[in-house]
Amino acid sequence: MKNYTSVHDVADIQALVNEALELKKSPYAHKELGVNKTLGLIFLNPSLRTRLSTQKAAINLGMNVMVMNMDKEGWALETQDGVVMDGATVEHIKDAAAVMGQYCDIIGLRSFPKLQNREEDYNEEILNKFIEYAGVPILSLESATRHPLQSLADLITIQEHTPAGKRPKVVLTWAPHIKPIPQCVANSFAEWMSMADVDLVITHPKGYELAPEFTEGTTIEHDQDKALEGADFVYVKNWSSYEQYGKVLSDGKGWMMTNEKLSLTNDAKVMHCLPVRRGLELSHEILDGPNSLVVKEAANRLYAAQAVLKRQLEGLK
Ligand code: CP
Repeated sequence: MKNYTSVHDVADIQALVNEALELKKSPYAHKELGVNKTLGLIFLNPSLRTRLSTQKAAINLGMNVMVMNMDKEGWALETQDGVVMDGATVEHIKDAAAVMGQYCDIIGLRSFPKLQNREEDYNEEILNKFIEYAGVPILSLESATRHPLQSLADLITIQEHTPAGKRPKVVLTWAPHIKPIPQCVANSFAEWMSMADVDLVITHPKGYELAPEFTEGTTIEHDQDKALEGADFVYVKNWSSYEQYGKVLSDGKGWMMTNEKLSLTNDAKVMHCLPVRRGLELSHEILDGPNSLVVKEAANRLYAAQAVLKRQLEGLK
């Protein structure tokens, strides 16, 4: 594997899940693979889970890791080509990426969307410029439209909690939030689940339709209670509108997952990528109760990252 930016970079998702589960059993089995190899983790946005799990995954594989909080510690990046840089930006992304590629064998990049211009965000300008100019494999740590390490961890978690031979019903439900939140996690989750052995239903208020390329063939149900009926897994996530790009359209009253809503399901396990706004997106009672998988899901971020990094390291040979 060279770059890891979406499910489309994975030839066989089940083989990757199996590899992650093997690494969970023996995390240090491939410690020689990353010796004298350096992973650079470049953050243009905050992170807790992605930063620590990817760093730990690299350490488990014997790699050296360098982390740069580009938004706070780096020069302001210019992304437009051919401009006269007489404004606030100090360094062009093509120069910065090319230089980082001189120091790193693999670069992990987190670059959120600005949620102002849909075309610009969905063109994945920053991620694609790193791919073009860094000259080394790129690992997406969440981009403008997708969060593939999160989705891999989500699939691992669902498989671990599904009885053998069962095809679970998985419901992705929109949840309330006070701020405009990117669509990446929901996009990516929908994309991965549509390729997995699950029945996916997406529920959200009207106006929160995701980009069609991520939901083609998926059941969309605007009645949340109906969608939740018989669910084995409920994945809770807020996202802002794709149609009215980046807008919060409602206060989402009545959409928070609670124990009352859980009673409509098949005693569903509840997931969320975190960070979560307690009492707004998800109730305290669920998060602190027996149905919550959120911490186990976050733990699987480590093995998702390790499986992908292992493939990328193998690709360097
Ligand atoms: N789920 C997730 O990506 O968490 P962080 O933003 O803390 O990395």
